[in-house]
Amino acid sequence: MIYQVYPRSFQDSDGDGVGDLAGIEQRIDHIAGLGVDALWLSPIFPSAMADFGYDVADYRGIEPMFGTLADFDRLLAAAHARGLRLLLDLVPNHTSDRHPWFVESRSSRDSPQRDWYIWRDPAPEGGPPNNWISDFGGSAWEWDEATGQYYLHAFLPQQPDLNWRNREVRAAMLDVMRFWLERGVDGFRIDVLWHIVKAEGLPDNPPNPRWKPGRNERDRVLQTHSTDQPEAHAISAEMRALADEYSARTGRERVLVGEIFLPYERLARWHGTPERPQVHLPFNFGLMEHRWDAGVIRALIAEYEASLPAWGWPNWVLGSHDAPRIAARLGEGQARIAMMLLLTLRGTPTLYQGDELGIGAVEVPPERVRDPREQRQPGIGLGRDPSRTPMAWDASENAGFSPAEPWLPLHADWRSRNVAAQDADSGSMLALTRALLALRRAEPALELGELALLDAPDGVLAYERRHDGRTLRIVLNLTPREVTVAWRGVPLLSTRAGRAEPGKLRPDEGLVLA
Ligand code: NOJ
Repeated sequence: MIYQVYPRSFQDSDGDGVGDLAGIEQRIDHIAGLGVDALWLSPIFPSAMADFGYDVADYRGIEPMFGTLADFDRLLAAAHARGLRLLLDLVPNHTSDRHPWFVESRSSRDSPQRDWYIWRDPAPEGGPPNNWISDFGGSAWEWDEATGQYYLHAFLPQQPDLNWRNREVRAAMLDVMRFWLERGVDGFRIDVLWHIVKAEGLPDNPPNPRWKPGRNERDRVLQTHSTDQPEAHAISAEMRALADEYSARTGRERVLVGEIFLPYERLARWHGTPERPQVHLPFNFGLMEHRWDAGVIRALIAEYEASLPAWGWPNWVLGSHDAPRIAARLGEGQARIAMMLLLTLRGTPTLYQGDELGIGAVEVPPERVRDPREQRQPGIGLGRDPSRTPMAWDASENAGFSPAEPWLPLHADWRSRNVAAQDADSGSMLALTRALLALRRAEPALELGELALLDAPDGVLAYERRHDGRTLRIVLNLTPREVTVAWRGVPLLSTRAGRAEPGKLRPDEGLVLA
């Protein structure tokens, strides 16, 4: 069970309005107390913060705003002392344009590191070498006046893509992984792993016939040639071999999580083969991408389960620093159902900070917008700031997050929606989250059991988890209406206060039954 920490917004310890490593250490018992197994930290490396840490200027250091290597070592020890594993966020597809590798590469066409990045001459008719579009909108190519070539950036111009066809690049990034594995980290979440190799010759991407003006510009073309290349799978296997080497050598298993947005049939390939495994957990974002409807989610679970190779361990993600808050999308009642779903499905769940409080929609006034995706394509719902607002710990100034004005505003109801308040309320989202995590830990059927989908009335999602003669049945009402459903068994947990009533599910009610 993985918990994602967004370091800028977890806890500020030095009063600059931005979270830091010492702050995470101060609050580590909140994470341990939830009952998760691991925390994943979004990037903490030196960065120009053009994309809030996903533009890394030095892979072996700590961003001063977040602290020092000594602070990191202390946090790692504090996590390990509580039985928590710690995963770092490796960003191998691109660096910051301030990274010494890029500074050198850009210095001249003859630089020994020129080939570390993807430089091309203009197209014969002038302009960018091909039609690729940045994920944040606009051409994926930036003109470099001094050396008279374009460089490729799948994200911001300040995030030039590395050339993973270059052997030195591969060796350098594996060395970065070694550096942190030696320091004792338990693995990595690997940023945009399916992006890292581009098709030979960089052909134009095909236009997307379904794209309409006003939608994300990224989707104007299909990313056929810019992502999911066979060579990227080979790199994923190389990274896994390195992680396995450390697992074997130290007796402590290291885990790799791949950030990959692909349809299930293509996603499944990132498990690799038993002889040549790839990442342990290719992130499954299905719950975030599909309509919240019992039939749709049922089909999604069936499709995912069917896509997995026999040796593949499943996983589910419910929220992240890139996606709308689950409670903003579904409302409070259904966010509780979603939490029960996430924590009773088969496979490793990833939980995003703040979702255990049910933080919902946050208004970020235009003058406080920080996210470059919103700044480059404003007003079409792409902004990620609302999901990155600070954690709320208590009802004191700035919710106990910082003595200073936080870098992003808090959610409006932070005075009541905070950890201290929910701690004292047995009906809170926090209490439900803890109870679900505890149940998952106590019941091998939830942690390890097979999953069987059941038939259910409209609006209801039902399945069983079975292990070693023990069966748990989960029935979830995905509507805000009462529904008639003949459930049987002993309720172990409900999303709602009060007694479950046989023969029906109350609005927004979900039950785990023994
Ligand atoms: C995925 C990260 O989660 C996102 O926040 C970032 O902007 C892009 N990758 C680029 O690194």
